[in-house]
Amino acid sequence: MSNGPLVLGIETSCDETGVGIVRGTTLLVDAVASSVEEHARFGGVVPEVASRAHLEAMVPTIERACSEAGVSLSDIDAFAVTAGPGLAGALLVGTASAKALAVALGKPIYAVNHLAGHVVVDELEHGPLPESAIGLLVSGGHSSLLLVHDDAQDVTSLGATLDDAAGEAFDKVARLLDLPFPGGPHIDRVARDGNGSAIAFPRGLTASHDMAEHEFDFSFSGLKTSVARWITKEKAAGTSINVADVAASFQEAVVDVLTRKAVAACLANDAQHLVIGGGVAANSRLRALAQERCDEAGISLRVPSPKLCTDNGAMIAAVGAKLVRQGAQPSTLDFPTASVLPVSTVVVRDAG
Ligand code: KG4
Ligand code: ZN
Repeated sequence: MSNGPLVLGIETSCDETGVGIVRGTTLLVDAVASSVEEHARFGGVVPEVASRAHLEAMVPTIERACSEAGVSLSDIDAFAVTAGPGLAGALLVGTASAKALAVALGKPIYAVNHLAGHVVVDELEHGPLPESAIGLLVSGGHSSLLLVHDDAQDVTSLGATLDDAAGEAFDKVARLLDLPFPGGPHIDRVARDGNGSAIAFPRGLTASHDMAEHEFDFSFSGLKTSVARWITKEKAAGTSINVADVAASFQEAVVDVLTRKAVAACLANDAQHLVIGGGVAANSRLRALAQERCDEAGISLRVPSPKLCTDNGAMIAAVGAKLVRQGAQPSTLDFPTASVLPVSTVVVRDAG
């Protein structure tokens, strides 16, 4: 086991109550309570329901994490919590809980950016981040290409989605195919029996006139509309829909663009490493195609295991532990939550 600070991280930006404990870069426990089933019938996360579920799950999840890690709260050296981006009410439950623990135990608190967590979590499995890397962040709320330096405090956005996030596109297309929410894992599963080249769905922002202005940006809403139109047309013609082929062809369109632009960003920035994070990084086809294209381009690929790709507390603890190791100034107790938070702001320090 590595030495280093014992940090407890709390994540409540969406529908997962995550409590993770790390020592240095060693993951001790990753406890997650999800309210996803309570949202499924609405086809999306209902903010009030999520906040209430966080309130109910918070104390039991903290207790479970401590007991599984074999530590008591008084052993913790520092607390880390997601300050944003995310659902305002959900974030408040996590930050209020973390502040209460920090005050009661007299320990420092770090209010961290959820998006940084999706990248830094990879250190728990693959060791320190390289000096500079390209980060491809693909979740339910975000899709961006980032230039990330090893201290993780220096993050520059190279491009982002102009409309839907990649995960959002998976969820919306799953709905068109009558698959349950959240749709990403279901499309991934169903697509395994389908043909990814069966239907030529569009690759957003890859035409030369788009590339001039949006080389590292993404757009998925046209793709979703195209899938919807295709389904409507086939149904009108009385053809039965091959769900596996639609899922595989849609998935191929998304991961083709993501991996193509990610590799191009590595080459354009002289970065030898690509780190993929966020819920969509759990996608098996994205992982396989990224590996193939990185191998071809001589780029080393780092992707956390699927469980650490989706929202969890360990990723927040990982950022906290990194900040403690760097001797970074903790946040003051008046730090606010931020439902919108630029990826370049890794720590929210104070109310400032
Ligand atoms: O990072 P995450 O857990 O939450 C946010 O910060 O948004 O990402 C959730 C998103 C959802 O849209 C979900 O459908 C997608 O990640 N997702 C997947 C897979 N697993 C989760 N998308 C494609 N394939 C998967 N295997
Ligand atoms: Zn996330």
